[in-house]
Amino acid sequence: MSLQPESRTAKVGDGGGKRSIWVRSPLGRHKWHPQAVLEQLRCAREDLKVLIKEKNCNPILVRLAWHDAGTYNQNISGWPFAGGAIGTIRYHPQLSHESNAGLVNAIKLLDPIREKYPAVSNADLLQLAGATAIEMAGGPTLPMKYGRIDAPSEEFCAPDNVLPMANPPDPAAHLRGVFYRMGFTDNDIVALSGAHTLGRARPERSGFGKIHTPYTKDGPGAPGGQSWTKEWLKFDNGYYKEVRDKTDEHLLVLPTDAVLFQDEGFKVYAEKYAEDQDAFFRDYAEAHVKLSNLGCKFDPSQGIRLGDHPSQLSYRRTVKALTASLNRFAAVAARLPQHGQQYTSTFLWVFALIAMLAVVVKLLTWDELPLAKRVG
Ligand code: HEM
Repeated sequence: MSLQPESRTAKVGDGGGKRSIWVRSPLGRHKWHPQAVLEQLRCAREDLKVLIKEKNCNPILVRLAWHDAGTYNQNISGWPFAGGAIGTIRYHPQLSHESNAGLVNAIKLLDPIREKYPAVSNADLLQLAGATAIEMAGGPTLPMKYGRIDAPSEEFCAPDNVLPMANPPDPAAHLRGVFYRMGFTDNDIVALSGAHTLGRARPERSGFGKIHTPYTKDGPGAPGGQSWTKEWLKFDNGYYKEVRDKTDEHLLVLPTDAVLFQDEGFKVYAEKYAEDQDAFFRDYAEAHVKLSNLGCKFDPSQGIRLGDHPSQLSYRRTVKALTASLNRFAAVAARLPQHGQQYTSTFLWVFALIAMLAVVVKLLTWDELPLAKRVG
């Protein structure tokens, strides 16, 4: 029995067509088995490491992941209406927002990996790429989880102008307005801003930054732009030191960066991070993981961790299914007349039925793993 993903061909900006957690087989429609997703996530991560090493594209991958997740609005209820890390940045209407200028290049870089691993959702690939980029730049280990389900269509693209502006009239109020909408605190805002320790601003994309500086004119990667730090491919607390000291005219400080040392509520954290890299790494990791989970629906619901043992996922799934069935049985049994013998025999029959069903389900989904191995 061979399984085929429902759709694997996609153009940049079309969101990956009907790419989903579903696969077809002669026996009908199945979800990708979490073990297949885990295996492909691990392979995708290895491919991402090669890509990042070759292209030095850490910064743009981090920015891409953030711009997908940062659309979340906690005041809107129900998945996927609230936005967040649901993969919609792949779709043309959202990718073409002014705030996303240049991110099509990151989507193009990820496309071969996306095509190669159909069990990995678009939303997961974006967040996996961002987290891998941070870790490879020397940043903290991020305790991420995966198994995100993609928003079903471009109808769920975020509206324009929901991400922060770099030069608003009142930067502190603006940052609070945007990040509180996502459920973040002042502490999170300052920690997340530290991601600007990586990368550059380019006038032809955001309108900010210089065409080039002594730190960017020869790359690495595509030359040009203005960075916040001298070593803009290294993830450390250099951003806070540079923004605080403002001694290097070649480095960028946006109004929303400067305000971190001007606003009393932000300053306490910004000063701490300038002095204590461990504190920055701890808080950054926590805020980044929170960002990457905004608005997400996971399958399985507890998510998949790259360190999970494959059998753990099967075990958890089976236990969850059995527990749900037994709960249902208990609810029905509670309504039955209290004749002990009848009760016991009903219980045994139902239990045997559930066990048989579990075996049948396992057999029906058995082939998904070999496919994952072939793809990997
Ligand atoms: C606090 C509000 C923020 C504002 C106003 C802001 C604004 C900007 C701007 C204007 C650029 C330049 C883009 C370009 O010209 O290509 C940029 C780049 C970048 N941003 Fe932010 N950003 C914010 C928060 C964040 C957060 C929360 C993250 C990640 C967690 C992040 C990660 C990055 C990265 C890595 C780059 C460099 C991209 C590259 O080199 O291609 N930013 N940001």
